[in-house]
Amino acid sequence: HLLKTARNKFYTNFNKKFSVSQLANANKVAVMGASGGIGQPLSLLLKQSPLVDQLSLYDIQHTKGVGADLSHIETKCKVQSYVGQDQLLESLEGVNVVVIPAGVPRKPGMTRDDLFNVNATIVADIATAIAKVSPEAILCIISNPVNSTVPIASEIMKKHGVYSSKKILGVTTLDIVRANTFVAELKGLDVTKTSVPVVGGHSGNTIVPLLSQASPTVQFTKEELDSLTKRIQNAGTEVVEAKAGAGSATLSMAFAGARFTFSVLEALNGKQGVVECAYVAAEGLETSYFATPILFGKHGVEKSLGIGKITDYEQQLIQTAVKELKGNIEKGIKFVNEVY
Ligand code: NAD
Ligand code: LMR
Repeated sequence: HLLKTARNKFYTNFNKKFSVSQLANANKVAVMGASGGIGQPLSLLLKQSPLVDQLSLYDIQHTKGVGADLSHIETKCKVQSYVGQDQLLESLEGVNVVVIPAGVPRKPGMTRDDLFNVNATIVADIATAIAKVSPEAILCIISNPVNSTVPIASEIMKKHGVYSSKKILGVTTLDIVRANTFVAELKGLDVTKTSVPVVGGHSGNTIVPLLSQASPTVQFTKEELDSLTKRIQNAGTEVVEAKAGAGSATLSMAFAGARFTFSVLEALNGKQGVVECAYVAAEGLETSYFATPILFGKHGVEKSLGIGKITDYEQQLIQTAVKELKGNIEKGIKFVNEVY
């Protein structure tokens, strides 16, 4: 009788923890750049989640140690680690989601575009490997400059004949996380119930918070709009300067990257109504890539929910963003056409 009671209790807890839809899918997630400032805490958060069955850690250094460390955590997710170029292809076998925080971060005085020369090649090489080994996988690109690395990965996929606009996602979640935090702080709101869409791209003026669409509805003075917008657009630089040469946001990015990946996985597992802002190929907008709220589904992007009703103030911000975005996108496309 005791055994039966214990077994029933086990299954009740088990079923509560892992929904049937989660059990139906075996999700294998790869983290490319897993030993880095973002890669390590991001991998820790992924290892803790019942949504991830297998975690594949890839980096050009230190992954064996990171993997051994994470593998002792008592969660069901199995960890495999791969190090160096020779193991790149193997690290991607059987993965359905690839998260990419590989690449150099900014130092004070640099723009994200200053990272292009190094990170463009890193992202293009990883995308090439994905195109060969796991062309069906969904790519979540964190590496900067995101405005260019998303077009770069897309062009690589096109060259290999495996492109799907539904599957290449630029992770802008940190902008939303910051906007929620700053608005909740300013207005004394419950941050867990505060939601601010951020559209456009992921650098300076291309980051466009839609404060008029904040939920719950809040009123801002012109001064508040100016200072909040500026702070959200420069929040990455705020961290870069505070770290004084030791890199850029890593912990808040790991939080944001994990939240984004969980949303992608939940939608893959069949959950309905999953929405996150993401920088993706755009239709009917002024640029060929643009971040908007996206409804995720079983194949990645289900549809863009668009930018909705915006104010004249926000329209002006978007006009400024569009000019810069166009240049960033062209630069990424040109790079792939010239080098690959
Ligand atoms: P980091 O230097 O701490 O880590 C980067 C890791 O990438 C290192 O472990 C390095 O060995 C690895 N790496 C380098 N070349 C590689 C390759 N060819 N293949 C695989 N791994 C490789 O940097 P970080 O702080 O983790 O930042 C990583 C990137 O994320 C930067 O480009 C940064 O600008 C970007 N970032 C983006 C956001 C965003 O919101 N999208 C936020 C923060 C940082
Ligand atoms: C951020 O927004 O924190 C990242 O894009 C890193 C950076 O360079 O600011």
